[in-house]
Amino acid sequence: MQTHPMNDFDRSRKLAAPFVLVTGGKGGVGKTTVCANLGVQMAQEGHSVLLVDLDLGLSNLGLFLGVHHGPTLEDALSGKCTFRECLQEGPDGVRLLTAANGSEAMGNLSHDQRQRLIEGLAELSREFDVVLGDSAAGVGPDVLHFAAMADRVLVVTTPEVAALTDAYGVIKALDQFGIRTGADIPTPELVVNQCSGVEEGQDIARKLRQVCERFLARTPRQAGWIPRSRSVSQAAQVAAPFVGVSKRGLEQLCLRQIAGRFRTLIAIKAPLACP
Ligand SMILES: Nc1ncnc2c1ncn2[C@@H]1O[C@H](COP(=O)(O)OP(=O)(O)O)[C@@H](O)[C@H]1O
Ligand SMILES: [Mg+2]
Repeated sequence: MQTHPMNDFDRSRKLAAPFVLVTGGKGGVGKTTVCANLGVQMAQEGHSVLLVDLDLGLSNLGLFLGVHHGPTLEDALSGKCTFRECLQEGPDGVRLLTAANGSEAMGNLSHDQRQRLIEGLAELSREFDVVLGDSAAGVGPDVLHFAAMADRVLVVTTPEVAALTDAYGVIKALDQFGIRTGADIPTPELVVNQCSGVEEGQDIARKLRQVCERFLARTPRQAGWIPRSRSVSQAAQVAAPFVGVSKRGLEQLCLRQIAGRFRTLIAIKAPLACP
């Protein structure tokens, strides 16, 4: 019997270090912003952090952190260099694996290429306390497979109806993928970005949770919220993390609160990776 490539993967494949995938149904909601800043925040807290650009066709994680040049995952997959040689340094000592922007080939990885990428990440992950992946939007095969490797999945949404609808779409697709393949996909946690305050963040998360409970029998918890803020967008304009700029700002406090949710996971799993 022939196995479908979507089923032909190691269902229990997890990285040595805790792996957090930052995803979301829609583009422009703040996935890269959250991933990049969460990584820098965790590095500032003393963790060794690996940030991986898993938005493989339209990557821009490096741009957000002022890392523009150097080898990319495309080079590693084509054999020009090793995954280790692709590692670059970003703010506060975070290490980055960047990807090529506008690469059709990277936007359509073959099953074998994806498996090699996963093997490369698994190998490197032994050296880090935590790995954060910046995912593409949507419910393509990359998003589903990377979510299956994750210990935690963060779904980023804004209060907009379209973003919220797509956030539900991605949670539903992950749920269905898990059921169909037996992959161990954690129930996503929600980050409500670009909202007016804590009340709106909670209100949006509650609405999404109610729909998920009703139709998927899943209860996605709220990981946190981040205000719509000029310092966030201005930091992106100058390719710097906002956590480096607004140390006392509300957005930094919100991010610290989200990072705090991973402390236990790191404390439990990281010692296994870094003996
Ligand atoms: N909380 C926020 N306040 C203001 N602007 C934001 C906020 N979060 C993200 N942005 C801006 O929105 C745009 C899209 O963010 P990005 O992280 O690239 O989204 P995605 O990765 O989901 O496509 C960027 O210009 C970013 O600076
Ligand atoms: Mg992005």
